[in-house]
Amino acid sequence: MKTILTDSAEKAARILNSGGIVAFPTETVYGLGASIYHPEAISRLFRAKGRPMDNPLIVHIYSIDQLPEVAAEINAEATKLIERFFPGPLTLILKKNPGVPYTVTAGLESVGVRCPANPVAREFLRFSQCPVAAPSANLSGLPSATSWETVFEDLAGKIDSLLRDKPSSIGLESTIVDCSGPKPLLLRAGAITLEQLQSVVPDIMESTVVDPAKPPKSPGLKYPHYAPKASIVLYTAQDNIAVGNSSSASIGMSEAPAGVSLFKVCQNLDEYGQELFRFFRLCDAEGISTIYCELPSNEGLGRAIRDRLIRAAGVC
Ligand code: TXA
Ligand code: MG
Repeated sequence: MKTILTDSAEKAARILNSGGIVAFPTETVYGLGASIYHPEAISRLFRAKGRPMDNPLIVHIYSIDQLPEVAAEINAEATKLIERFFPGPLTLILKKNPGVPYTVTAGLESVGVRCPANPVAREFLRFSQCPVAAPSANLSGLPSATSWETVFEDLAGKIDSLLRDKPSSIGLESTIVDCSGPKPLLLRAGAITLEQLQSVVPDIMESTVVDPAKPPKSPGLKYPHYAPKASIVLYTAQDNIAVGNSSSASIGMSEAPAGVSLFKVCQNLDEYGQELFRFFRLCDAEGISTIYCELPSNEGLGRAIRDRLIRAAGVC
């Protein structure tokens, strides 16, 4: 199959409306979209990524007017979060509208809903005549794609079209909050921080804090994620790192450890988030065998970066 590259949101949406699978930009990472009403496109999407069928997809909308078409119930907490953070890098898990097929939600009665802020994403979603189910546009298990070139590397020939835009401004997947149960839970940290969420809904808790022994509430979190081929070694600014071999790299915010052949020193957490997945992929392309990654503190965007690093290292 030939993948049509385009800069036209309208053309990309036309392909999606006729049952195609289309990669598109968002401010978090690129997504791979299909109409929620085209079951064949949804199953092709799972196949193109190599994604397990029990991992539900986030449904993307361009306007909160589309919410009733996707969600059956929006409680007071969800309403506050929507008013404050939509459009943006936040996904809410809500009770699903019966019209949303179980292939999209992997059999769950809940659905993830996101309204991205990226203008090209919004144009694409507006031209699409339906809510758009979209996981991250990468091969399952690899770091999410933060540029159209990376999407092309992973999925060219497997998808119908790729809508090109600038690299994703955030570079980490959306924050996920589960508002479908009795208490709102943070399922995945992201650019909307726990502190920001709690300023609107004070009793939001991290799901791991609730009961670390229970399986994760978000099915996708049980799969290996964000993993480059290189092995990951985590360190903190206080550690004295002894680099073991010549094909090592590092990423962090303090001075790079001596002896690494490739490094990225980020000026702040925003840059660390933007660069992380791109750097992982660069290291793989360069044949790096070990990436030393500095763990930021567990505050603000640091929480999301730590989460991705810990998963990439396979520590949890
Ligand atoms: O920033 C993002 O969220 C990107 C862009 C494209 O929007 N999308 C993304 O999708 O990261 P994906 O499929 O790579 O990750 C979605 C996560 C998975 O861990 C999945 O299990 C979880 O969201 N999820 C989706 N629907 C859910 C539901 N109903 N209940 C619990 N978790 C859900
Ligand atoms: Mg993903």
